[in-house]
Amino acid sequence: MTESLKQIDRLICDWLKIVDDILPRLIQEMHTDTKKDRFDLVTNVDKQIQDHFQTFLSNQLPGHLLLAEEKNNDDIDPYHGHVWIMDPIDGTANLVKQQEDYCIILGYFVDGEPKLSYIYDYPHNKLYKAIAGEGAYENDLPMLKPATLSIEDAILSFNPHVLNDRTINALFQTSFSYRIIGSCGLDSIRVIKGQFGAHMNTNPKPWDIVAQFLFAQELNLKMTSLDGGKVDFGKGGPFIISNPGCHQDVLDILNSGNGYQK
Ligand code: IPD
Ligand code: CA
Ligand code: CA
Repeated sequence: MTESLKQIDRLICDWLKIVDDILPRLIQEMHTDTKKDRFDLVTNVDKQIQDHFQTFLSNQLPGHLLLAEEKNNDDIDPYHGHVWIMDPIDGTANLVKQQEDYCIILGYFVDGEPKLSYIYDYPHNKLYKAIAGEGAYENDLPMLKPATLSIEDAILSFNPHVLNDRTINALFQTSFSYRIIGSCGLDSIRVIKGQFGAHMNTNPKPWDIVAQFLFAQELNLKMTSLDGGKVDFGKGGPFIISNPGCHQDVLDILNSGNGYQK
């Protein structure tokens, strides 16, 4: 890792320690608003964490830009320069309803290349980090490439509300079982750790999937669109992160017949 990347990583880890100090109070004072509909929640925690990171970037890394969920990103070109993509709270509904199973997602790109990725599972005190060319870490311990999982042995994670009945039944019948956590970042972490075979999302935004690119790259996982193509980190769109042992089988099920869409 270059010295400047090391420095940036240290700054981010220090910032995440500050998050540890401020989150309890923000959660205590939590108030919730809705966005598109009654299921689409946002809280002061999401907004204040994002604002805090924006201020940190302006002070510590001037010239680095932020593309994030709770702000307008019209003026951000994610493909050039030093760009951070952030989901300040991924799994907001879990934060509101369960005070568990949510995370902070951060991805750092230089001229469109992923350099650093973070998924911070604050409730469980686990920081997952990936560094380009160097590997991935769980609380500073190196993570291993997960063992190969065939679809028969794999737990699959997806939102059944957005798939048609044929696809859901085929996934249920072919795989070992089904689980969903409700945070794209943490469902993906299960795949990254070899606990799930695959996680898919039919409509993620850049901040939902931004960190997963580097983990997939460093740990030999598959991360593709649902037709097997490339995912554009600046746009998002249908995606799967998968153990290499079941990726093609899941895609075959999603794309057989008339496809997975309702
Ligand atoms: C959502 C969660 C959820 C996924 C949605 C995301 P949010 O993010 O990751 O698991 O299914 O597509 O929008 O709104 O909690 O940041
Ligand atoms: Ca999210
Ligand atoms: Ca969010």
